Amino acid sequence: MGLHVGIIMDGNGRWAQSRGLMRTQGHLEGLKAAKQIVKAASGMGIDFLTLYVFSTENWKRTAEEVGFIMGLARQYLKAEFAFCRENHIRVRHAGDLSGLPPDVAKDIADVRGDTEAFAGMQVILALNYGGRDEIVRAVNKALAGGAGAVAGAPLEINEQVIAEHLDNPDVPDPDLIIRTAGEYRISNFLLWESAYAEYYISDKLWPDWTGADLAEAVDSFQKRERRFGGVNSASRGAGVSL
Ligand code: FPP
Repeated sequence: MGLHVGIIMDGNGRWAQSRGLMRTQGHLEGLKAAKQIVKAASGMGIDFLTLYVFSTENWKRTAEEVGFIMGLARQYLKAEFAFCRENHIRVRHAGDLSGLPPDVAKDIADVRGDTEAFAGMQVILALNYGGRDEIVRAVNKALAGGAGAVAGAPLEINEQVIAEHLDNPDVPDPDLIIRTAGEYRISNFLLWESAYAEYYISDKLWPDWTGADLAEAVDSFQKRERRFGGVNSASRGAGVSL
């Protein structure tokens, strides 16, 4: 099937607050949900799963909360290696590695290297990720590398040049983007890559998400007809453009 699913894991704070707990407790439960979802996805024909762990805007949160989420990310990277090896899961990163604390960046680089040869599902952790930031970095990488340069002509930036300089240029665009906790926002997630993605909003808070919720989202996606800006097969003959 080869699906790429992206998830905006929202609602950890609300999950905790509604129980009179610290927000950090919500993130801890969020990590448990993320582990379950990775397991469920690997048995569901999903080839790429991008998880929005921490955005370029999340640095605005308190130092305590930021430190806690970074700690969870490190814990995940270390503790899940055995599972990844057993299931041939390749772990990758999207975002600005240079803006992360050095210990977190090192753990990411290590797991990325250790799982590089695994040919099963790819889990892409978006950490210090912003869609606008990724596009700006892609353009700068292209300019620095002299992309599209023809002797004597100015450098030309086009769609292909940007796509080739994204964080993971070989990963196909997401087919489905899921957001939990009932918010209808993209929040700077995969801006370039999601041009033709289908969206699925779930009212459930992220810590309450299970494999059954993911199965329902994928099922709903599979019933939709994607036209990529063209016309559907029934109306094509009738000359109706949509
Ligand atoms: C959004 O909830 C969640 C985050 C900003 C952090 C996501 C982190 C995890 C799920 C844990 C780490 C996971 C991995 C795979 C390393 P929110 O705090 O914005 O919730 P709220 O909108 O209810 O306040």
